[in-house]
Amino acid sequence: MLTPETRLRDFPSLADRVYLNTAAEGVPPPAVPAALSQYARDKDLGMDGRKLHQEQWEAAKSLVAEFYGLTPAEIGICSCSSEAYNLAAMALRLKPGDEVVINDLDFPAGATPWLQDGCPATVKIWRNREGALRSPDLVPLLGPRTRLVTVSLVSFFNGFLINLPEVVAAVRKYTPALLAVDVTQALGRIPLDLTGADLIVSSTHKWILSTHGGGLVGVPKAREREWTVPAGGWFNLEDAFGPNRFDRAVSKPGAASFTVGMPNYPVVYATRAALDYVRGVGVANIDRAARPLVLACLDELKKLPVELLTPAEPDHIAGILAFRHPAAERIHAHLHSRNVHVMSHAGRLRVAIHGYNTAADVERFLRELRAALALP
Ligand SMILES: Cc1ncc(COP(=O)(O)O)c(C=O)c1O
Repeated sequence: MLTPETRLRDFPSLADRVYLNTAAEGVPPPAVPAALSQYARDKDLGMDGRKLHQEQWEAAKSLVAEFYGLTPAEIGICSCSSEAYNLAAMALRLKPGDEVVINDLDFPAGATPWLQDGCPATVKIWRNREGALRSPDLVPLLGPRTRLVTVSLVSFFNGFLINLPEVVAAVRKYTPALLAVDVTQALGRIPLDLTGADLIVSSTHKWILSTHGGGLVGVPKAREREWTVPAGGWFNLEDAFGPNRFDRAVSKPGAASFTVGMPNYPVVYATRAALDYVRGVGVANIDRAARPLVLACLDELKKLPVELLTPAEPDHIAGILAFRHPAAERIHAHLHSRNVHVMSHAGRLRVAIHGYNTAADVERFLRELRAALALP
């Protein structure tokens, strides 16, 4: 785990800054800018650089595979989570009468492809109760016509961590539907067991501490037929330059069909370096260090005159806490002026605690929050 020395070495910008906004943007360790410099040097080689880009591509996929519990062949990399879901929507080839289940704690990326006018499926919404998504509320929404259930493992909105085994069991029992799991707010922060997920998606710029520009897609081999994207492109196609290329386009199966054109190699380099770093520190160690801080922060927030949006159930908490207050904007401005960084959005304040945060960070945040609440 990070010591005070390695923390300062790897995250010098956190020396005097209370940074509790990793759910929006992670702070990369030096290996990430170094990887971007490496990309620039390799790019300088022109076409000869391609072999080096390819090596990084393979290394990045191997690391993502390790984090997802899959094999490298089951990993695809596109440009963001939203792109991954739009490609997934193409792969599903939904028809009128098909049903898709979304939920009201989800980030728009995974929920909105099915809400566009052009989508023929009927959308059902798994609604939260007091900030929690309960499996018994999902069951009545499932049936023979359900084609997809899409969830985030950890909600961007309030940090609620779903009980994945329960959701998998419900989906398997009541419907032939596929289950898509967005792990953007979990990957790199909590140990993952994604058994039963039929599609896994993550962005790259949050808890894994990489840059913008990546969508990490996992498609288990057993599901590659269902998740083969019928998109134009070339990187995604079998024999894209063969003699019959103007007769017919045939996608590579599964994960490989999610990278339609030239990969975004800068983020591939950055993500290889970032995942390597996170693996070196150890996700279990990160969670062991950060979880007590989250629970301590939650205990203190409960005592304050704020509306907690995160259910106070330790089994359903990862790295995010959220609360509302009528003066949220003013509170946020006060915190920011004291170099305490949290997320403020739509009247909600969100606190995100990673392995590079300390008990002193949480104390300073709470001190400044109490001061802001006491202001007229
Ligand atoms: C759960 C979740 N998924 C996806 C994203 C981002 O999606 P994209 O990579 O398309 O920007 C976010 C946050 O920005 C998120 O919280």
